[in-house]
Amino acid sequence: MEDSRRDAPLVRGPLAAARRSGIREMMDLSAALEGVLHLEVGEPDFPTPAHVVEAVERAQREGQVKYTLSRGTLRLRELLSEKVRAQNGLDAPSERIVVTAGGTLAVFTALASLVDAGDGVLVPDPGWPGADLAVTLVHGRPLRYRLLPEDGYLPDLEQLEALAGDARVLFLNTPSNPTGAVFDRSTLERMLGIAERNGLVVVADEVYEEIVFDTEHVSIGSLGYEGRVVTVFSFSKGYAMTGWRVGYAVAPEEVVEAMVQAQETIVACPSWTGQKAAEAALTGPREPVLAMRDEYRRRRDTAVAALREHGLLLAEPRGTFYAMADVSALGADSFEIARRLLLEQRVAVAPGEAFGPAGAGTVRLSLASPPEVVEEAIGRIARAVRGAAVTSP
Ligand SMILES: Cc1ncc(COP(=O)(O)O)c(C=O)c1O
Repeated sequence: MEDSRRDAPLVRGPLAAARRSGIREMMDLSAALEGVLHLEVGEPDFPTPAHVVEAVERAQREGQVKYTLSRGTLRLRELLSEKVRAQNGLDAPSERIVVTAGGTLAVFTALASLVDAGDGVLVPDPGWPGADLAVTLVHGRPLRYRLLPEDGYLPDLEQLEALAGDARVLFLNTPSNPTGAVFDRSTLERMLGIAERNGLVVVADEVYEEIVFDTEHVSIGSLGYEGRVVTVFSFSKGYAMTGWRVGYAVAPEEVVEAMVQAQETIVACPSWTGQKAAEAALTGPREPVLAMRDEYRRRRDTAVAALREHGLLLAEPRGTFYAMADVSALGADSFEIARRLLLEQRVAVAPGEAFGPAGAGTVRLSLASPPEVVEEAIGRIARAVRGAAVTSP
């Protein structure tokens, strides 16, 4: 073999250039430290509701733990068809639903189905890094549109319109990670108008739909544009079921078929256990979901009050369990800021730039910790910011 071939890097293509997630980096770094307040992790701190766990245990004892259809069981897809009709205003029979290994695989298989090499995909900035990475892995081109803090982190629609001519897919996320923004009906109608005028396919990531405060969650697919919207949901966040790995998408039938094929190639099928858990979640009481949402609201209120008091508030989150903090007094490099906050203040947060260049000078706080922890952590961040103000020339 030629030396040059042997010396070539083993990992090639888009993954060779992929950057490690800034959030993982914080988690690794904080694992070695004591007394750290953890606000970096993007998952609920509540256990999965007991009735879900019990239903799965009962089913497992019967022993039929097997592969399922690669698109998910018919029973679950029928339940989901009822749920999306009643809760989201999406009129989709079970043939238009695919159950996936988490919302992550729904987003990935949707983009793998819709994007050819070089196609532009509009992604929010700041936004969940999973979307950006998925676009890159399928050889698409991420085209970032800004979410504006001064506008409650709603999208810059003028910029979106200007970029749309170069795109094939519009990816959006509401309620939004990392900003906590919830897009209102009129914003979604205008986004749909941009998609329609430019012949885009819409991929709407609505995995935080259950965690919305003092407003409503609107599914963009319920507003029209029949046949060109893919909507992604998940059991992870609202039901505190991250580890069960079960999400789903509502899509046009031809897209569902392509997504099923992609999923079959990657994991064969979603996990049987996860699907049993999802059935129990859908057919059981909703109280646990509502109780968790109320607790997130309390934490959001605590965080907003503390951020405002210290002059660090960028925009009031209206959903999810995240809030952005303005730490620009510490500089622009949010990776460096997050490292400093961890080492000097023992607070672990996610660097804003882990979510795109627009995250410079900010960090994301995850409110998946009790209110007193959230308050104490914000106090420590404020101390660092005050310290910088005192020592800067
Ligand atoms: C915006 C967004 N979409 C999708 C996901 C994927 O979640 P899961 O695969 O657990 O459903 C996440 C997880 O953090 C997220 O924040």
